[in-house]
Amino acid sequence: MKYKGKVALITAGGRGIGQAVAEELAKGGAAIALNDVEEARLTEAASHLRRHGPKVTTHPGSVMDEAFVKKMVADAVAEHGKIDLLLNNAGGAPPGAAWGEFTKLSLDDIRGFMELNFFSQVMVLKAVLPGMLDRGYGKVVCVSSISAVLGQEGGSHYAAGKMALHALVSSVGKEVARKGVNINGVILGNPPHPSRTKERQNYLDKMSHMDRVGDFAEFGKALSFLLSDDASYMSGTMMTVDGGLVAPRLNE
Ligand SMILES: NC(=O)c1ccc[n+]([C@@H]2O[C@H](COP(=O)([O-])OP(=O)(O)OC[C@H]3O[C@@H](n4cnc5c(N)ncnc54)[C@H](O)[C@@H]3O)[C@@H](O)[C@H]2O)c1
Repeated sequence: MKYKGKVALITAGGRGIGQAVAEELAKGGAAIALNDVEEARLTEAASHLRRHGPKVTTHPGSVMDEAFVKKMVADAVAEHGKIDLLLNNAGGAPPGAAWGEFTKLSLDDIRGFMELNFFSQVMVLKAVLPGMLDRGYGKVVCVSSISAVLGQEGGSHYAAGKMALHALVSSVGKEVARKGVNINGVILGNPPHPSRTKERQNYLDKMSHMDRVGDFAEFGKALSFLLSDDASYMSGTMMTVDGGLVAPRLNE
């Protein structure tokens, strides 16, 4: 019951990484305020979490919408009394914005990716942080990608949006570290994704040192560690969870 008495806000938690972290936290006794833009998916994920016992509230809407973000945080605080833990998780491809080589991308494509992968996390952090600072307690994890550190052909806007998070985490992490709030981030590599082709998955698996895709439960455990008091001496840093993918093999 590592998280008993804690309240966690998880964005984009209807499936994937967010759902896996919510599962770990709920198993450990945390109450959960769960967000996703897909309402049916959110409802199903929340009912799955409730079997662990703690209170779970749902907050359907897009974290790209500033008015919604303010309302989501106000509603979560009204229903749970506080937010102790934040998984700032929403990211990926926003609706209507294309992937592609830099010369072919429109400024709107680039803005869209920056809005989802950087600015949505800025808005959520801005809305949550004052309450954490008032209470002198908070743990935040912002979710980035190996694309930020490796670069990604056809995904320069995704990589740039994620890399901006690293600077946000290290800078704001410094500002709040003496005030009881730990802000850290994660660089994720090779979790499963429903849009990935089998060929692409095989390619990524071979790049990892384990020759396999990561299991969502493995990501859930690693990320929930950063949201626990076991990570109390970690601040402003990015933790890599990628099966070794960013580290080149020197032999073979
Ligand atoms: N899966 C990967 O391959 C991978 C790799 C590296 C990093 N990441 C990062 O991990 C995070 C989670 O990735 P995932 O693969 O679990 O995501 P996903 O694509 O499976 O989506 C998870 C959920 O996010 C929701 N969502 C999308 N836009 C939203 C919005 N604007 N507001 C609220 N909810 C929204 C979707 O409805 C979905 O249920 C993202 O930041 C992603 O960039 C993922």
